[in-house]
Amino acid sequence: MELTDKHKALIKTLASGRFFSTQRLADELGVSRTSAWNYLKALECMGFELHAVSGKGTRLKQVIELLEAEAIIAHLPAEKQGLLAKLDLLDVCPSTNYHLLQQNSLKPLANGVVCMAEMQTMGRGRLGKTWVSPYGQNVYLSFVWSFKSGIAALSGLSLACGVAVCRALDELGVKGHGLKWPNDILWQGKKLGGILVEIQGESQGGYSVVVGIGINYQMSSQASTDIDQPWVDVCTVSGVPVGRNKLAGKLIERVLDMLASYEEKGLAPYVEPWNAFDCYKNSNVRIISGKKVTAGIAKGISSGGELILQKPDGGQQLIVSGEVSLRLDDK
Ligand code: BTN
Repeated sequence: MELTDKHKALIKTLASGRFFSTQRLADELGVSRTSAWNYLKALECMGFELHAVSGKGTRLKQVIELLEAEAIIAHLPAEKQGLLAKLDLLDVCPSTNYHLLQQNSLKPLANGVVCMAEMQTMGRGRLGKTWVSPYGQNVYLSFVWSFKSGIAALSGLSLACGVAVCRALDELGVKGHGLKWPNDILWQGKKLGGILVEIQGESQGGYSVVVGIGINYQMSSQASTDIDQPWVDVCTVSGVPVGRNKLAGKLIERVLDMLASYEEKGLAPYVEPWNAFDCYKNSNVRIISGKKVTAGIAKGISSGGELILQKPDGGQQLIVSGEVSLRLDDK
């Protein structure tokens, strides 16, 4: 369903979580009561959970902290603000990664252009999966950066990004999160977020990279019915309340910092921290690549970012990311 300006205005009015009578909403939107009621029903169809009480009106079950560019930028330390070329804040888009890839192919974007959206209609995950992206409930964030180095040097970028995300969460007081190779962010085995790096070739040589990060922030169970694995969100796991704009600002700070030094330093400074965040270290795992399954014990990542797999015969195999997925062997 298309989100019209009236729907958006209604969401902004309801975001505080306060009760509104249908008449009051109709007045705010400049429409009839029946239309206001229809707009409310449409929001419900889009996955918003409404709570109606007779005599009080209707409210959103969950307060939404809408994204605000000024608030996000205010959370970046002054000395880091120069790394942010532009913050493109969208309401609804197919995918923030796709948005930047498309813009960059029309006219090369500056390093540090960042795109966020309240909702993605075609959010992209790893291995061709869909990334469930309901309105206002999570963080969908993409960065563009160009590198002169060859494509091989970029293979560790998503791992470095995982470390940057975990550090951002640490600094916000979240505890107990970690990484699952190659780049899932987990909390107690449940998915808290993911990273999708997409690479675009350039005619002058070098590559543009779009780094996309999705972090579950405060997702309703209704919106998440299509997620095929256990998941969790920041609001559930953080001991201290973390604002959505603050989370976005901290992620932007940490990821821009990493991107700005990656060309020069590569993955090397992130290998040890990645291994310290590794949730599956010394666990029995299976590596699935199409129909092929390889079992072993996960031993963290190598200096090149491959997963080190200790085989049952004692030998080691280095697993390259790409079209493979890693599962815990819980038999
Ligand atoms: C994964 O499968 O774990 C990676 C998920 C990456 C999702 C993010 S949300 C922002 C950006 N835009 C997309 O369409 N995907 C990434």
